[in-house]
Amino acid sequence: MSKRDFLAITDLTRDEILRLFDLSGRMKAGAYRETPLAGKTLAMIFAKSSTRTRVSFEVGTYQLGGQALFLSSRDIQIGRGEPIPDTARVLSRYVDGIMIRTFDHGEVEQLARHATVPVINGLTDLSHPCQVLADLFTVREALGGWEGKRIAWVGDGNNMANSWIEAAEVLGFELRLACPEGYEPNRRIFDRAKAAGACVSIAEVPEEAIEGVQVVNTDVWASMGQEEEAEARRNAFRGYTVDAELMKLADPKAIFLHCLPAHRGEEVATEVIDGPQSRVWDEAENRLHVQKALLATLMG
Ligand code: CP
Ligand code: NVA
Repeated sequence: MSKRDFLAITDLTRDEILRLFDLSGRMKAGAYRETPLAGKTLAMIFAKSSTRTRVSFEVGTYQLGGQALFLSSRDIQIGRGEPIPDTARVLSRYVDGIMIRTFDHGEVEQLARHATVPVINGLTDLSHPCQVLADLFTVREALGGWEGKRIAWVGDGNNMANSWIEAAEVLGFELRLACPEGYEPNRRIFDRAKAAGACVSIAEVPEEAIEGVQVVNTDVWASMGQEEEAEARRNAFRGYTVDAELMKLADPKAIFLHCLPAHRGEEVATEVIDGPQSRVWDEAENRLHVQKALLATLMG
């Protein structure tokens, strides 16, 4: 059987996502005791910082009976210019799967093309599919599913927004984004989703996107690698803070999600992220359960 990679939400079908979530649910409930990764190793390459992704993949691999290797791209030879294809070929001789977090999405695709073991996207400048899987699982847990639901994305049209658009394409819920001009999501991903019949739209102001939605999502205004733009972005995103006032426009039972880390007082007000509608800690926990299901599926 040929290996499967997970580079984008669109690499999975709707049925595969549902099966993955059933397994994640069993794992979260403690009803799964198997060790499909016994004797196996996951290499984790990080060119950017991480708390959740690193720890959840490392702990998850261990809980499934395997071991995870943390490889900072500064310390392995990639940092000195060893080509990605050579790294892919060599790692494939040692390990059973590779998770990578880096800047250029093309590098992850190149790694996947040349590796003979599954490759998992742990975040690029283009997308963050592992996080959005955990977010979808959190929506299912809190609201029973996403069918017929309206979901809002308020803020930067970044990697997270792009993966949410792909999720709307695969799963068919309504996604309403509100992004300032010049900070829209990836055009190719957006157009492809539209062409595939996805119900995705970009509103001019957050108030319009958030009206009556059941899920409100946001993320930092300056992602990793954009630190020098932070000041300009703070100006561009004025009026995009998800605060109690804005949350009032959503469905009264709406939940708030944020992939974390968060900047309180910028993209989200303290009263919202630390308030009763927030599900951010469940969301962070669910990274572990969903990725374990993913690892068991791809590497087990
Ligand atoms: N949400 C997320 O991916 O967090 P880390 O950057 O801490 O991995
Ligand atoms: N958009 C953020 C997500 C962090 C998990 C970033 O790329 O920095």
